Amino acid sequence: MTQKVYKEIYFEICGNCNAKCPFCVTGTGRLPQGGMIRVDFFKKSIDKLIAEKLIDKQSSVFLYNWGEPFLHQDLDKIIEYVNKKEINFALSSNASVYKEFKAKEVKKLQEISFSMSGFSQSSYDRVHGFRFEKIKQNIVKFAENLKKVGYRNRAKIFFHIYQFNLDEIVLAKEFAKTIGADFVPYYAFIADYEKAKNYLLNKLSHNEMRLAAESIVLADMVQKIKMMPPGYRCPQNEILVLDEKADIQTCCFLPKDHPDYYCGNLFDDKLRENLKAKTRKNECKFCLESGLSYCVHNVTIPEFSNRLH
Ligand SMILES: C[S@@+](CC[C@H](N)C(=O)[O-])C[C@H]1O[C@@H](n2cnc3c(N)ncnc32)[C@H](O)[C@@H]1O
Ligand code: SF4
Ligand code: SF4
Repeated sequence: MTQKVYKEIYFEICGNCNAKCPFCVTGTGRLPQGGMIRVDFFKKSIDKLIAEKLIDKQSSVFLYNWGEPFLHQDLDKIIEYVNKKEINFALSSNASVYKEFKAKEVKKLQEISFSMSGFSQSSYDRVHGFRFEKIKQNIVKFAENLKKVGYRNRAKIFFHIYQFNLDEIVLAKEFAKTIGADFVPYYAFIADYEKAKNYLLNKLSHNEMRLAAESIVLADMVQKIKMMPPGYRCPQNEILVLDEKADIQTCCFLPKDHPDYYCGNLFDDKLRENLKAKTRKNECKFCLESGLSYCVHNVTIPEFSNRLH
């Protein structure tokens, strides 16, 4: 059988983050912060992916998973290399660190999104923990810079909808329009696998449950789980996820301390077997049957947000 070419790869170049998002496994500090990939190792990994025909010119490499890519001290060199190899790449950021792009750096930039946890200081205090004005200024600077250097697409604002920021959606939408960005509002979910599982099993601690109940639109999670179509298959089988050590992860979702996280390394002799192991993990049974997989792979853009202006 021929090896499949992955169209989507998540490659964690920087496993740490400076934000405090309470529903992200990195933001809570539940796990030790991850490391930063060395540039020479990143290059070697990209070369290996190409040589093994795991990626091609139609693939997109998302340079993040559970960390903040703009914290990587050599992001310029990483971006230079994917452009040189003519590999499409994507970035998602909390916008706490500004980087000026040059025209040659955005040639292969396919998507850049800025994740926002609201449109006020009080919402930022509850999630990212950053100074909101600074984040707004950075996003404006990014948008201006990207236009100036000829980025071919529009930047995206991923607006995470929480119970406490519903009346900020309209402000964020206006902001996105002003800077010429696409506005993508969707319900935030419990993005830490263990916490989401514990929620479904009624095993969250009192404090965790209270935090979730006061923040996440839980009705959306429950509703979505009910909508899971029969025969649903997890899309992670078609996605390759590598951490900063080029360890192959089962998926974007399972955290590093989970026994089913690891599927070997990109440089192992048994690479093909490692890749097959991705789809055969015990945890997948619960994740699929409970609807969790469906829930995290199908974010809801509420219809009412289209009617706001
Ligand atoms: C974990 S983040 C890492 C990249 C970067 N630090 C950021 O926040 O954009 C990866 C993706 O998850 C999304 N995300 C983070 N927390 C989320 C949540 N609670 N619900 C839904 N999506 C979330 C972000 O918008 C981002 O596109
Ligand atoms: S969601 Fe992004 S910004 Fe927030 S803690 Fe996680 S990695 Fe950092
Ligand atoms: S079913 Fe769940 S645990 Fe398994 S690969 Fe998909 S998202 Fe990951």
